[in-house]
Amino acid sequence: MTAYAELLETLPEKQETWLVTGVAGFIGSHLAETLLRLGQKVRGLDNFATGDKKNLVDMLAKAGPGRQADFEFMEGDVRSRQTCRDACASVDYVLHQAALGSVPRSLENPLASNETNINGFLNMLDAARADNIRSFVYASSSSVYGDSPDLPKREARTGNPLSPYAVTKAANELYARVFALNYGFRSIGLRYFNVFGERQNPRGPYAAVIPQWFAAALLGGNIYINGDGKTSRDFCFIENCVQANLLAARAATPEAWNRVYNVAAGRNTSLNQLCAMIRREAAAVLPPDHPAGQSSVIHRDFRPGDMRHSLADISLAKRFLGYAPEYALEQGLARCSRWYAEQGNR
Ligand SMILES: NC(=O)c1ccc[n+]([C@@H]2O[C@H](COP(=O)([O-])OP(=O)(O)OC[C@H]3O[C@@H](n4cnc5c(N)ncnc54)[C@H](O)[C@@H]3O)[C@@H](O)[C@H]2O)c1
Repeated sequence: MTAYAELLETLPEKQETWLVTGVAGFIGSHLAETLLRLGQKVRGLDNFATGDKKNLVDMLAKAGPGRQADFEFMEGDVRSRQTCRDACASVDYVLHQAALGSVPRSLENPLASNETNINGFLNMLDAARADNIRSFVYASSSSVYGDSPDLPKREARTGNPLSPYAVTKAANELYARVFALNYGFRSIGLRYFNVFGERQNPRGPYAAVIPQWFAAALLGGNIYINGDGKTSRDFCFIENCVQANLLAARAATPEAWNRVYNVAAGRNTSLNQLCAMIRREAAAVLPPDHPAGQSSVIHRDFRPGDMRHSLADISLAKRFLGYAPEYALEQGLARCSRWYAEQGNR
């Protein structure tokens, strides 16, 4: 039995309270959905900066009948210390996801990214410490590898950050380490690599590649590939990311605490391969000869600052957390395709 299968069996035996920040966003809404389905109480915090009320509605519908009663939503901002204190009151675990994502967004407005991602993070860390939270799991990012040319990426060797966003995530990791050293505070950082799945926003200038391309492939429009398409990434389906969060929060061995872990699939895929897969999955859910299935693929310039290849070594998370990704890229894309197609039909 895998560590996660065991956790899924034992978690419902006791109802505990989990705070999920960024709950109206993509990853936060999936964490809340799984926890509610497992009979846990969830308090969700969000200020809707990039999240959406529709995600909460969809999340509650999927969590199952009657689960709404165990969900408490707080509309609030992690930049407020008092909000963070109120949110942390009487919770057992914190899964801190609230942040302003996207490298280009941070380049356009570094101060905004700093306020939410560093000040907001510190507010949450301090509030969680004051409330004796059992464990604090937070979203870091593969961007902390910065200019390191190493492949695969191993946790112990990062490079110099290349964007304000990467600085904010690197600062999170430093603060978490310092809190562990000085206050005996227990936290675990998860360096997410290109997480994708249902409810990820396909719109706007900062949309990630998979939702953007699904929108084009299913609704009609061009698929733009930056560069020659040989750029590669380690795409991680949301269910794998949820698994890592729950395992991290409940990690029982002290050697597992106060570390950062790569959260990825451990396999890299080029953008050209990804594009072909998305077009195939979209064709599978569209009626034959549907005009939307005729999307064109257009190569344009490389995006400045984009690293060429990214691939995670996930052995540390395997060893200390028992992390074992259950969903391959293809399975995740098939689920996304059905979901994005449903959205288009609404
Ligand atoms: N999706 C990925 O591939 C990926 C990769 C690396 C790291 N991450 C990190 O994972 C976390 C979740 O990302 P996501 O993809 O779900 O993004 P998202 O934008 O869908 O979710 C972030 C949520 O945080 C909320 N939020 C933003 N600022 C806030 C504030 N000041 N107070 C309260 N709530 C606030 C937003 O409204 C949103 O609902 C973020 O910390 C992000 O940096 C994501």
